[in-house]
Amino acid sequence: MMTVFAVVLVPTLFVVFWPPTITAKVPVKQPDIAEDFALADWPLSKAAAFGKIVYEKNCIGCHGTTGRGDGEAAPFLDPIPRNFQRGAFKFRTTPTGKLPMKNDLVRTINCGLPGSSMPSFKLMPEVEKKAVAEYVQHIATFRFGKRAVAKDMKRKKLSLEEVLASRIEDIKTAVWSKRIARLQPIPVPPSPKVTDKLLAAGKKRYLGECNRCHGDSGRGDGISSYTLRDWKDEAIVARDFTTGIFRAGSKPEDIFVRMRTGLNGTPMPSIPGSADEIWGLAHYILSLKDPNAYKSRVHAGCGIPGGEDDN
Ligand code: HEC
Ligand code: HEC
Repeated sequence: MMTVFAVVLVPTLFVVFWPPTITAKVPVKQPDIAEDFALADWPLSKAAAFGKIVYEKNCIGCHGTTGRGDGEAAPFLDPIPRNFQRGAFKFRTTPTGKLPMKNDLVRTINCGLPGSSMPSFKLMPEVEKKAVAEYVQHIATFRFGKRAVAKDMKRKKLSLEEVLASRIEDIKTAVWSKRIARLQPIPVPPSPKVTDKLLAAGKKRYLGECNRCHGDSGRGDGISSYTLRDWKDEAIVARDFTTGIFRAGSKPEDIFVRMRTGLNGTPMPSIPGSADEIWGLAHYILSLKDPNAYKSRVHAGCGIPGGEDDN
């Protein structure tokens, strides 16, 4: 009996009573990011709460339970599904580095991303598309929420529980108004007439700047192409323009916007220059399509010229 007391109970008592005496003396350092703050603590709007249900039914297998792009199917996909928590969105109408507008996300959900495994949810009811888009924005603002919560805890000397009990709604409103509510699409002035001169100017600029990644003939085989890396340090290839397949639409306006906004999280930069220079590039790139290329079966409104039900 004594041995049992010595071997089992004494160490147990140590374990139970020892730590509080130690931790009590260690000053609590407030971190810059509230690590214990979970996505489930980030307050949902009514639309986003509905969007979460839509998300769990349709998106979770690829984008993962908390939107980190780590769903069950993710390891089999190339490129891998987007990590919405990271906040780098490629296909936007907003300036470089910004989050996407709800309409940008609805477009991606509606049209899918041709050339990747992101499917089109054309048949999904409009209200569900909008709701799930808002839920994606909800996930994308979470990391700013984490920072704002940590700042609040520090400034007001509050615990996470106290912030969650009384301050979190205000924090969410502030983050949302800064990161989402103020988003504006970049202006797209009308295209000048497509002349030989415009195309020649586009070609000249292309061969000076774009070919090192996209290749002289646009096949995506430029000298830098095989060394390109995305934000996760994963290999990424520059688009092959001869296929005519673009992720986010192949109308000249779509290409204009892609160049102006850049593709966040990838080596594809935002392209400076006058609107006419950008239009020259856009029309030139579209002229590189191989006339024998496979015709994309993308539905109306998604801007694939020659597509099955193009409009
Ligand atoms: C079969 C897997 C799969 C499913 C299901 C799926 N996605 Fe995706 N999604 C992807 C992949 C892969 C990408 C990345 C493509 C790329 O990088 O070009 C992506 C990218 C996206 C993007 C792009 C964001 C950007 O601009 O960078 C959005 C938005 C998106 N998905 C939303 C959704 C929503 C919402 C659902 C559910 C309604 C969904 N996805 C379902 C695979 C999937
Ligand atoms: C440093 C390398 C690099 C340079 C320079 C570069 N690009 Fe890209 N570009 C990329 C990569 C990588 C992608 C594919 C990104 C992805 O889909 O994730 C891309 C994609 C694109 C897309 C595809 C958008 C879509 O919807 O599919 C267009 C259009 C484009 N680039 C145009 C240009 C033009 C025009 C120039 C020159 C003014 C240029 N790029 C210069 C790397 C580059």
